[in-house]
Amino acid sequence: MIYTVGGQKGGSGKTTVATNLAVLLISIGRDVLLVDADDQETSSDFTALREERMENQAGYTAVKLSGINILKQVPKLAERYQDIVIDTGGRDTESQRAALTVTNIFLIPFVPRSFDIWTLEKVEFLVEQARSANPKLKAYVFINRADPRGGDNDEAAELLKQSEVLHFLDSPLGNRKAFANAAANGMGVIELKNTDEKAVNEFKALYEQLNHSS
Ligand SMILES: Nc1ncnc2c1ncn2[C@@H]1O[C@H](COP(=O)(O)OP(=O)(O)OP(=O)(O)O)[C@@H](O)[C@H]1O
Ligand SMILES: [Mg+2]
Repeated sequence: MIYTVGGQKGGSGKTTVATNLAVLLISIGRDVLLVDADDQETSSDFTALREERMENQAGYTAVKLSGINILKQVPKLAERYQDIVIDTGGRDTESQRAALTVTNIFLIPFVPRSFDIWTLEKVEFLVEQARSANPKLKAYVFINRADPRGGDNDEAAELLKQSEVLHFLDSPLGNRKAFANAAANGMGVIELKNTDEKAVNEFKALYEQLNHSS
């Protein structure tokens, strides 16, 4: 399976989701390639830290690719790995477009805030365009950094549900320190010592829902 985590908003949690997904997939025995398609190279930095902490045993392979090279290399790499997770930047980049033409599953996290939700139409347009080259592309939206209380989560969910282009996964990730703490140690939430069970359960639930829907 080839997953791309993207969207049109910076800081929505793309790298958090991509790295946690890679870690979850290796935990269930999958052979995983993590592709950093963002010039900021955050997931490469994550992997470098992870290798340092784990005596070079990150558990997955990581590469950095951009633009046209994503189109050229990912299909070949897909023959060698069971799963590929592509982390893109939060802009409409050539790299993100290239990734979407070779991807099975597009994952778009949304923070439940107006500025983030306002990018929904742009994401829909991006997916519709990508489908002209990749008709089987499945695109899933979900809430990341959900508030512990208040109406903003529900309001955002209502808007995301209305999309006819994107499928809403009703499996939010809360705004939980464990995600940042795990990243600071080169780990996924499921690996962190004294982790937050809620964060672990939310991430696993999101993956389960994705599996059921795809
Ligand atoms: N569910 C969450 N709970 C708490 N903190 C989170 C959560 N998701 C992401 N964060 C934090 O939010 C910040 C941005 O997350 P991340 O780097 O994953 O976003 P991004 O979409 O990859 O950003 P960019 O657009 O810069 O690539 C990070 O500090 C991360 O630790
Ligand atoms: Mg990122």
